[in-house]
Amino acid sequence: MKAKGAIRGKHARSFAKRANKEDWIVSVEKYLLPELNLNKRMKIVDFATGSGNIIPFFNNKVKEFTAIDASEEMIKILNEKFGNIKNLKIIKADISDVPLLSNKYDAVIMKFALHHIFNADPVIKEAYRILKKGGMFFIIDPVFEGNFFDRIKVQFIRLGKTIRKGYQELFCRYRNQKEVNDMLLRNGFKVLKKTNVGGTKTYNYFTDYMFMAKK
Ligand SMILES: C[S@@+](CC[C@H](N)C(=O)[O-])C[C@H]1O[C@@H](n2cnc3c(N)ncnc32)[C@H](O)[C@@H]1O
Repeated sequence: MKAKGAIRGKHARSFAKRANKEDWIVSVEKYLLPELNLNKRMKIVDFATGSGNIIPFFNNKVKEFTAIDASEEMIKILNEKFGNIKNLKIIKADISDVPLLSNKYDAVIMKFALHHIFNADPVIKEAYRILKKGGMFFIIDPVFEGNFFDRIKVQFIRLGKTIRKGYQELFCRYRNQKEVNDMLLRNGFKVLKKTNVGGTKTYNYFTDYMFMAKK
C-alpha cells in the first residue's frame, strides 16, 4: 500500500473521538479562517482530512470543499458524518497523487498531516499542481524545535505511539521550520508567513505552526 501514513482499523474511530478537542481546531478559527476570506466562488481542498473536524467551518461558505484521505475507515467516518453536505466532495486517495485537475483550486489545506508523510515532496508538488496561480497553501503542523537529545527521545516516543495508536505512527517524520520552509520553496511556493498557532503542547520541543505559502 502506498499511503503508509493512512490510519487503519480501530485506530480510526478512537482518532475521530480525540480529533474534536478544542486545541486541534483552535488554529482553524483563530489563524486559518482570517487568512482565507471565504466566499461562495472559492474551491478549497483539504489534504488528509481525517475525521473532518475542519469541515463544519466551510459548510455552505464556499462553492466546493474537497476532503481527501487515504484511509478507508476515515472515508467511512466522513461519509457517515458529512455525506449529506451538498458542496462537499469526499475522495479516497493518496495525497501524493490526487485525482483532481490542475490549476483549479483557490486554496489547499493540510492540517496535522505533514508529519505523517515521510517523503512529502510529491504531496507538496500535488498541492502546487492543483492550485490556481496565486492560490494559497496552508500547512498546520507540529514543528520540531528541540536539540540532538530531544531527537533521540522523539524516536522512542514514535515507537510508543506505534504500539498505542497504530502502525501509521512508525512512518512519522518530524521536521523543523527550515525543513518545511525549504520543502515549500524547492517545490515552487513563495512562503508568505509562519505563525505560531499555539494549541496544547504535549512535548516542549514541538510547537504548532501555520505556514502560509502562495503559488
Ligand atoms: C493526524 S490525522 C489529521 C487529520 C486531520 N487533518 C485533522 O487535523 O484532524 C492524519 C491523517 O492523514 C491521513 N494520511 C496519512 N498519509 C496520507 C496520504 N499519503 N494520503 C492521504 N491521507 C493520508 C491519515 O489517514 C489521517 O487521517
